[in-house]
Amino acid sequence: MKRLVVLTGAGMSAESGLKTFRDMGGLWEEYDVYEVASPGGWTRDRDLVLRFYNERRKQLLETKPNWGHMGLVELEKDFDVRIITQNIDDLHERAGSTHILHLHGELRKSSSTTDPDLVYDIDGWELNEGDLCEKGSQLRPYVVWFGEAVPAIETAAEIVSTAQILVIIGTSMNVYPAAGLINHAPENAPIYIIDPNEVSVPGYSRIRVIREKAGTGVDKLIKELTDE
Ligand code: OAD
Repeated sequence: MKRLVVLTGAGMSAESGLKTFRDMGGLWEEYDVYEVASPGGWTRDRDLVLRFYNERRKQLLETKPNWGHMGLVELEKDFDVRIITQNIDDLHERAGSTHILHLHGELRKSSSTTDPDLVYDIDGWELNEGDLCEKGSQLRPYVVWFGEAVPAIETAAEIVSTAQILVIIGTSMNVYPAAGLINHAPENAPIYIIDPNEVSVPGYSRIRVIREKAGTGVDKLIKELTDE
């Protein structure tokens, strides 16, 4: 089976009703990213940060995977699919995809503020001031914030370097190091971009753009790949 590597971003979950970050009406229009998603923001106002992620978690529990997520599961019949997602939601897991790497963390988990290796599932949607790890330290969202290292990036780069086909879905390719993963694709691997808007990825003449939302876009991709 050919290895198909998929890099997903917020647009993947848009049709499930979760807001993207940089589109009109996106989350970073409503919130100051440095106040809710940076170590400095956490130091200044923990309560604001916890409320921001509690709200995201609550919405996540109320939604479900969309046709795009389901299409990626279907592709596993014909391809060795590896998903690398910038999304912190668990919609790829709930759809049934089997190989998923989260680059920016997972919304339904918390980690210790003193020992990042202590990671816990969050029961329900709330993480609050006073919720402690087994060593007695405050728990924080298990999310990579701006200014923090992305521990999974090397594993992700290795996966991309094994791609026979690379598919990029619903990401503006604005945030590094995730956006730089495209540079690890082998030269002979075709690259597909599924996005209803223009995504600028300079210098890649071999890119096939499917200018659609994730649901219809993945459907078209399946038809193209399985008609070959
Ligand atoms: P962005 O909000 O930057 O980009 C979302 C992309 O999804 C845009 O290119 C949209 O055109 C596209 N889009 C919108 N609706 C879509 C749909 N229905 N189907 C497919 N695509 C659609 O989100 P990301 O690129 O994921 O990081 O953002 C990257 C990182 O920046 C996030 O992981 C997050 C954020 O700050 C952290 O919080 C650390």
